[in-house]
Amino acid sequence: MKKININDIYQFKSKHKKFAAITAYDATFANLFFSHGIKVILIGDSLGMTVQGHCSTIPVKMEDMIYHTKCVRRGAPYCFLIADLPFMSYFNVKDALKNASKLMQSGANMVKLEGGDKILEIVHQLNINSIPVCGHIGLTPQSINMYGSYKIQGKKKSEIKRLINEATLLEKSGVKLLVLECIVQNLSKVITEKLKIPTIGIGSGSSTDGQILVMHDILGITCGKIPSFAKNFLLNNSGIPEAIELYVQEVENKHFPHAQHSFN
Ligand code: KIV
Repeated sequence: MKKININDIYQFKSKHKKFAAITAYDATFANLFFSHGIKVILIGDSLGMTVQGHCSTIPVKMEDMIYHTKCVRRGAPYCFLIADLPFMSYFNVKDALKNASKLMQSGANMVKLEGGDKILEIVHQLNINSIPVCGHIGLTPQSINMYGSYKIQGKKKSEIKRLINEATLLEKSGVKLLVLECIVQNLSKVITEKLKIPTIGIGSGSSTDGQILVMHDILGITCGKIPSFAKNFLLNNSGIPEAIELYVQEVENKHFPHAQHSFN
């Protein structure tokens, strides 16, 4: 079987084929997701909440990310894996290089960093040292204490300008993929059309090249309410395999996300 690589993801964009990604944190789910059509998996620092029971991603440590990246790689040897660099693990170039190499050696194909301007030099240095980077702008959960609460991004003129600028600069610095989280859908459309690199949206409407959801939201097993931009695909299905297949199908056929999962 062929391993999915970055060129396959670029082909999705050039062929206008939407793709579905999902978070995973262990080998069993990673294997099941791959067996039912998922090609891109994120080992997200959302594991701080979904696995560890914290209120945010802030407490997640490098050793947690290394452990879960290794677990997912064992379960999904053919998937394209993106692993999150956790809070404060990339605050300077030296730490970013050291920590990103640990994730790559644990089986990641790419690392994900949150932020705009302040990470441009770090992105450049990772890139020239053969570590591909996925950017993440819009709602960046590692900055939750700066926002106060999880809010939709890109409503104000100043935010629109800043987000377009950040996306453009990140692409110029060498980012290979870009996650757009909770960005109003018209703006995520503008950013997706402006960039050559593929965008992956979560709560950012249907125009992004790919979609990503946290696995617990797709399966409706989140404590409390699932976010309004997510969908419980298990609800009307007989099992997890069918729910995952439906998620992949709905993304590829542009049925998900629907207007009710997006923000205007
Ligand atoms: O950590 C995570 O799961 C993420 C997604 C929400 C994109 O960053």
